Amino acid sequence: MKVLIVGGGGREHALVWKLAQSPRVTALFCAPGNAGIASMAECHPIAGEEIGRLRDFALERRIDLTVVGPEGPLAAGIVDEFRKARLPIFGPSQSAARIEASKAFSKDLMARLRIPTAEAKAFTELEPALTYLDHRDAPIVIKADGLAQGKGVVIARSRLEAKEAASAMLQGKAFGEAGTRVVIEDYLDGEELTIMAFTDGKTVIPMIPAQDHKQLEDGDRGPNTGGMGAYAPAPIGTPAVVDRVRRTILEPIVGGLSQMGRPFHGVIYAGLMMVNDDPKVLEFNARMGDPETQAVLPLLKTDLLEVLLGVVEHRLDQVSVEWHSGVAVCVVLAAEGYPSAPVKGRIIRGLDGWDDSPSLILFHAGTGKTPSGTATAGGRVLDITGVGKDFHAARERAYDGVRRITFEGMQYRRDIGSRALLGR
Ligand code: AMP
Ligand code: GLY
Repeated sequence: MKVLIVGGGGREHALVWKLAQSPRVTALFCAPGNAGIASMAECHPIAGEEIGRLRDFALERRIDLTVVGPEGPLAAGIVDEFRKARLPIFGPSQSAARIEASKAFSKDLMARLRIPTAEAKAFTELEPALTYLDHRDAPIVIKADGLAQGKGVVIARSRLEAKEAASAMLQGKAFGEAGTRVVIEDYLDGEELTIMAFTDGKTVIPMIPAQDHKQLEDGDRGPNTGGMGAYAPAPIGTPAVVDRVRRTILEPIVGGLSQMGRPFHGVIYAGLMMVNDDPKVLEFNARMGDPETQAVLPLLKTDLLEVLLGVVEHRLDQVSVEWHSGVAVCVVLAAEGYPSAPVKGRIIRGLDGWDDSPSLILFHAGTGKTPSGTATAGGRVLDITGVGKDFHAARERAYDGVRRITFEGMQYRRDIGSRALLGR
């Protein structure tokens, strides 16, 4: 089978890496890809949003399956366009992807389905938003409605800060179109957990639970980012918790979307806050997490292609998904200036000599080839995943890998997975 992966970050490198292990995959293509993906797949410089060009490419090259990594192309309707051309594609339609593309839509649906989540209200005008804030306590959370790459969320510590954030989004257009509507949400205190699941709109199969590290700096300080590291399986996601999330969150949302005539096929991602022992939804995403994928896929025992085909062919009930024992820790190496203004073009050293070990994996995220060598080309530059029998071993392996890489201004967290090490 010829498989095309759309995207060019660490998540897409992990997808390519995993699919390359499938005996049925005969050729891998990626658009646009990155410098690391280029060693495993034929890369083509077509952006995810250039849906017409991607469709034509898939038709010309007779691609048997297209797998969409990021949310942008999903929200722009890539799946609908490919289906019209009878091209098999893994991912939700534009109408189902709205669960991620609009937080107001998502909150409204959760309320109707009685899915546990924080109380919230959406606003397009500033005055009512400010009045609402007068009646809520801080901390409180202000979110841009649309897609903002994990950066459209402000956790305001005071009412004043909350009002400033709401004004910046609604009047100052701090997040452009994504912020013309804001959701104001009660603050939830607890530990975060990510549970992603494969679904064909009927059957829902959760993956092993993961935990992301959203803040830039050690000890969860500094600005929010797309994610600075992840580990799996997260100990707080016990089998009982995963089962409860499946029954009370994932199956209801998938069922609800089907009932609305927006059946969801692909990976549904539940970003959760464990409040005392109760899981509550922070957000849904319509795709796999980045960097959670880089910690989860190395532990997948089943051939990923078989799972993806089970979804695309609507027979996921016939697929059994199995996992390796052991744990994975993924550390993100980010560019200087990330998340606000990452510096591109810095030459990266230490990229040679990584063998094909399944226990230390180097995934490229934002890298590109330049005449002087491989260089930084995005905010998150590389992801290093260590796999071991426990968190101690996996972390040690991952950080051994980190020490092999250098580039000017490299930023990374030293505490990825340390919470799991504490046994909670
Ligand atoms: P989101 O994009 O909605 O997942 O928000 C990004 C991050 O902001 C989350 O991963 C949390 O760390 C934090 N966050 C979002 N909503 C809340 C909330 N209601 N209470 C506390 N933290 C939140
Ligand atoms: N790591 C968070 C996300 O993929 O949305």
